Amino acid sequence: MAAENAPGRVAAPVPPAGLAASRKEDHIRLAHEQRRGPAARNDFDDVEIVHHALDGIDIDDVSLETRVGPWTWSAPLYINGMTGGTGTAHTVNRALAIAARETGVPMASGSVGIALDDPAAAASFRVIREENPDGFVMANIGAGRSAEDARRAVDLLQADALQLHLNAVQETIMPEGERSFSGWMRGLEEVVAGAGVPVIVKEVGFGLSGRTLRRLAEAGVQVADVSGRGGTNFARIEAARRSDDVSYLGTFGQSAVACLLEAPAEGPDLLASGGVRTPLDAVRSYALGARAAGVAGPFLTVALEGGAEGAVDEITAWLARIAELLALVGARSAQEALSTDVLVRGAAREGAQLRGID
Ligand code: FNR
Repeated sequence: MAAENAPGRVAAPVPPAGLAASRKEDHIRLAHEQRRGPAARNDFDDVEIVHHALDGIDIDDVSLETRVGPWTWSAPLYINGMTGGTGTAHTVNRALAIAARETGVPMASGSVGIALDDPAAAASFRVIREENPDGFVMANIGAGRSAEDARRAVDLLQADALQLHLNAVQETIMPEGERSFSGWMRGLEEVVAGAGVPVIVKEVGFGLSGRTLRRLAEAGVQVADVSGRGGTNFARIEAARRSDDVSYLGTFGQSAVACLLEAPAEGPDLLASGGVRTPLDAVRSYALGARAAGVAGPFLTVALEGGAEGAVDEITAWLARIAELLALVGARSAQEALSTDVLVRGAAREGAQLRGID
């Protein structure tokens, strides 16, 4: 890694002051704190890949390329949308953008809304494209934003896709959050029609139900990231920013596993995120139909603690392990892992059976 690429060498831009910026700093700090200690158990532990000892293939025959909506991504793994708008966010985005460039994984920004409202925040987003001019970059905005805002977000990052996040649960828990959600579906349709690039709709850790996925398909959405419960928990993060205790809302929502099991066959192409802790979780998600797995909190921690170099090493290792696991189950690609035998146990199985899926 060239010394000039070390994130610490960059003069941190003057971060915008105000509530939005301090919220972004809180999110980074609290998400990082959530990851202290051993990774928590989640529904991915209830997805057991059946080991068939003679099914292995040659690693050289495994391709990490994956088809996602209209694109072919070079890896079935991506850095999910997190941050922007503060000095720490700039440093994190720069480290992760370098890692994305060096490993070829797609990367999403955090919500660009703060930069649309305050141009001083733009540099901390632009760095994602500056460090990775040829990579697959997704700009992120929240539901409720206009098609014009969507285009501005895409322009800022010269993005290949727009991630539109549906975060009603998080907004509800934020004291300063949105309280009006009835216009989100119409707004979403306008953004899909007017963003200028394909739109990936995602949750932020509470899951996309089968009904939601069907509605998204009807709205012309080709790709959806279920982003379920079980990883970074925004109910707990926002609860920690309030004086009253609403931490019980941390149990709200569905896991990524539950969402993948419930997803309609004729829905958008699926991306899995929310609680993807290891390469094995990523491969479990492919076995349940995901085209790629997204990781946010775990890569945030790596970027904060190890900078660009740590992030490059970590993501390189994930890709190597994913290729090995695909070879082990006899899958030449993430898509082929869909025919892997899996046993689903526990609450995820109960949920699937309740909905008539066994
Ligand atoms: C997020 N996430 C997020 N998502 C989004 O669509 N827009 C955003 O601005 C943010 N901001 C954000 C900040 C931080 C610090 C974290 C850790 C996460 C949510 C993220 O994309 C993902 O959906 C969830 O974090 C669940 O994935 P993990 O963290 O369990 O891998």
